[in-house]
Amino acid sequence: MHLPNYIEAKSRNKKKYNRINFKLDSSIEKKYEGKKYFLKTYGCQMNEHDSENISAMLEAMGFTKVDDYDDADLLLLNTCSIRENAHNKAFGMLGRFKHLKEKKKDIIIGLCGCMAQEESVINEILDNYKYINFVLGTHNLYELPNVIDKSIKENKLQIEVYSREGDLVEGLPVVRENSYKAYVNIIYGCDKFCTYCIVPYTRGRERSRKKEDILEEVKSLIKDGYKEVTLLGQNVNAYGKDLYEDYDMGNLLEDIAKLDIPRVRFMTSHPWDFTDKMIEVIGKYSNIMPSVHLPVQSGSSRVLKLMGRRYTRESYLELFHKIKDMVPGVAMSTDIIVGFPGEEEEDFLETLSLVEECKFDNAFTFIFSKREGTPACKLDDKTPIEVKEERLQRLNDVVNKYFLENNKKLENTTLKVLVEGISDKKDMYYGYSETNKLINFTSDKELTCGEIVDVEITSAKTWSLDGRVK
Ligand code: 5AD
Ligand code: SF4
Repeated sequence: MHLPNYIEAKSRNKKKYNRINFKLDSSIEKKYEGKKYFLKTYGCQMNEHDSENISAMLEAMGFTKVDDYDDADLLLLNTCSIRENAHNKAFGMLGRFKHLKEKKKDIIIGLCGCMAQEESVINEILDNYKYINFVLGTHNLYELPNVIDKSIKENKLQIEVYSREGDLVEGLPVVRENSYKAYVNIIYGCDKFCTYCIVPYTRGRERSRKKEDILEEVKSLIKDGYKEVTLLGQNVNAYGKDLYEDYDMGNLLEDIAKLDIPRVRFMTSHPWDFTDKMIEVIGKYSNIMPSVHLPVQSGSSRVLKLMGRRYTRESYLELFHKIKDMVPGVAMSTDIIVGFPGEEEEDFLETLSLVEECKFDNAFTFIFSKREGTPACKLDDKTPIEVKEERLQRLNDVVNKYFLENNKKLENTTLKVLVEGISDKKDMYYGYSETNKLINFTSDKELTCGEIVDVEITSAKTWSLDGRVK
C-alpha cells in the first residue's frame, strides 16, 4: 500500500528522475482472454491519451473493450481533479458501480488518473468506497497490468500511489482512438504552481521526453498514415528546460515541422515560456497550424498576481499581439477563470475589456473551484456564488459574440479541412480547419477520412461553420 502525500507531491528537488522502459510481464500477456473492460475518461487531452495507453495495456493482457459497463469484468475510471464537478462525476460513477458489485462479486473496479493522487480522495475511498479493488497513481500507470493481476488474485483494496516528482516512462503500448490524428506527449508535469491549480501536485515536476524519442514517434506515425500530431504537455513551452542547455520548444517544433507531416498542433502554452523563436517557427512553417491556445485566466493584473501567473495584463497583451502580428491568420484561444477569491467587479470588468481587445476565436470559461491543498483554497472568498454565476454568464455573452463575429469573417472564403467523418445528422461531413474550427460540409464526391480538402464556407454559426467542398 502506497498512499499519496501532498508535502512530497509539492517538493521539487531537481534530482535526476528515473527513465523507465515499459515491458509487459510475459506471465500476464493474454492471460485474461475473453474478459471485458469498461474505461471511462474524464478531463483533458493528456488523460485521453493516457487512456489510449491504458487500453493498449489491457488489450495486451487479453481484455476486450465494451461500451456498456453492465457487460464488463473490469471497470476503470481515469479521473480528473481540475474542478469539483469532474470529481463529483467520478464519485457518482463509483456509486453506480457499487450496485454492480453487489450483483457480480468478482467484478474488478479501479480508479486511476489525477484524483488518485489526492489525499482527500483516498481518505474518502477508505471511508466510503471500500468495495473498490484498486487505486493507481499517475506516476506508476505502467504498473497497471501487475496491479490488476494482483487485484484479481487477492480481491482486497490496493492503493498504489506515489507522490514522487515523477519518473519518465517510455515504450508504453498505445491503441489510438483516431487513425489520422494522434496525440504525442512531449513533456509531463508542471512546475508553475498557479495558486488555484492542482496539476503540479497530481502530475509531478516538469519532465521532458528526449527529442529523439519524440521525433521517432512522429516518424512512425507518419509511416502509419497519420496526418496530424498534437504535441501534448501541461506546459509545452517548458519543453527541454530540464534536459537540454540549448534545445527548447522552438527547436522541437521546427524539427517536427521539417518532417513530412501535414499538420502539427501543440497544447497547452503558458504565456511565461512563449519565446520569440517559437513565434518565428510557427509563422515560418505552413504545417504548424496557425492556432495558439494561450490561457489568460484573468484580465486584471491584481488577480493574476494572486493567481501566481507570473505575467501582467500588459505583458499578456504584448505577447498576444506579437503572435497575432507574426503569424498571419492565427486563431487565438484562451482559458478564463471568474470568481477567483478576491476578484472584485472592477477586476472582472478588466477581464471583459481584455476579451473585447483580444476577440478570441475560442475560450473555455470556468468558475473558480476550490482544490484542497492548493494555496488559493485558503484565501478568503467573500463573493457569493450567484455573483460568480452572473459574471460567468456576462463573460460567455461577450466571448460568444466574438466567436460569431470571427466566424462571420470566414464566410465566402476557402479553408483547408481535414475530413474526420460524417456528422450525426448523416447528411454532412465534418472536420477541422487549420485554425481548429469545426466545419460541417457537403461534397458531391465521396470523401475518405484523413483527406485534406478545400471547403468554401457558406454560413457561420457561433461554434461551427457550414460549407461545401470546392
Ligand atoms: N478552478 C477553475 N478553473 C480551473 N482551471 C484550473 N484550475 C482551476 C480551478 N481550481 C482551469 C484553468 C486552466 C484550465 C485547464 O482549467 O483555466 O487553464
Ligand atoms: Fe495548472 Fe498553472 Fe501548471 Fe497550467 S501552468 S497546469 S494552470 S499550475
